[in-house]
Amino acid sequence: MIKNILITGGAGYVGTMLADRLVTENKNVIVYDTFWYGNEKNLFGSNLNKIKIYKADIRNAGEFEKAIIENKVECVIHLACVSNDPSYELNPELGKSINYDCFENLVKISKDNGVQRFIYASSSSVYGVKEEDQVTENLSLEPLTDYSKYKALCEEILIKYIDKNFIGTVVRPATVCGYSKRLRLDLSVNILTTHAYFKNKITVFGGEQYRPNLNILDMIEFYVQALKYDSNLINGEIFNVGYENLKIKEIASLVKKIVEKDFVTETTPSNDNRSYRITSKKIADKLGFIPKNTVEDAIKSLYQNFENKTVANPFESDLFYNVQVMKRIYENK
Ligand SMILES: NC(=O)c1ccc[n+]([C@@H]2O[C@H](COP(=O)([O-])OP(=O)(O)OC[C@H]3O[C@@H](n4cnc5c(N)ncnc54)[C@H](O)[C@@H]3O)[C@@H](O)[C@H]2O)c1
Repeated sequence: MIKNILITGGAGYVGTMLADRLVTENKNVIVYDTFWYGNEKNLFGSNLNKIKIYKADIRNAGEFEKAIIENKVECVIHLACVSNDPSYELNPELGKSINYDCFENLVKISKDNGVQRFIYASSSSVYGVKEEDQVTENLSLEPLTDYSKYKALCEEILIKYIDKNFIGTVVRPATVCGYSKRLRLDLSVNILTTHAYFKNKITVFGGEQYRPNLNILDMIEFYVQALKYDSNLINGEIFNVGYENLKIKEIASLVKKIVEKDFVTETTPSNDNRSYRITSKKIADKLGFIPKNTVEDAIKSLYQNFENKTVANPFESDLFYNVQVMKRIYENK
């Protein structure tokens, strides 16, 4: 049974919730992160004494190796990256150095130091835009941006290193939604919910475009299960992980249903009619994994946290918006 787990990007939107969840599973959790979006105390609170923190950069090979060796890490869940197109495009050189250049070394260091499983968070954006209703893992990749292109290239690197003692798995998540202690409000469902609540207005651009969505609770559940799956089922495998493919206008209707406030929904024409859908049949058929939490549940979780004031007015802080934080970091403010 895998006990020692290092999460790169463990202080991110998905990572903070995953770290907490693994603590409840009695795992030894090591969070390796630059902590761009909040400090340890705010993000981990009472769990802080149960999580080992490395405030460090994945490009620092020496520090990464030290963390792997010191903690006898058995599984790496690699989430750290400049994690959306706008942040990446602010400084493509820095983005590439984090999202791609250091990746092979992370894999090598892990493999050379006894890590048994390496789980890589790629993205369903690697497909680009497809005509097919059912975008399966074996369709060709046509990434539209550098962020997606380097996600795809890292997948190939990881697969090159796998063997029977070093299990490598690629995860291609849909767009994640719902509440996290380190909240991202630059993701479609989260944006619409936040604008409805705090700005009393949402704008739907077009609306007919499909987006694949995944509740953050199911994202976390998948990583937890990935520690347990028989290695033959996941070694060298690529998995889409998504749940509901919804039109933007359908997401807007769900927000209308949940957020009990008077707000205006404005629909404007859009030039961006790119539509994305993925199927997650492979995780159901091969692994028996079926997401349980809906987009509606995600909107409820955000709404409740806004109502309880667990989240301050997000328009008064840049911490919820990756691109704004990255801008500050690049400008060294
Ligand atoms: N959230 C989504 O909708 C979604 C969808 C598909 C794929 N993914 C992938 O899942 C992963 C997690 O996404 P997220 O939403 O939690 O992102 P996030 O931006 O909230 O978290 C990324 C974390 O990585 C850290 N980080 C960045 N550069 C680093 C570096 N050089 N060294 C160490 N730490 C560094 C940041 O501080 C941050 O805490 C990412 O790889 C992302 O591309 C996310």
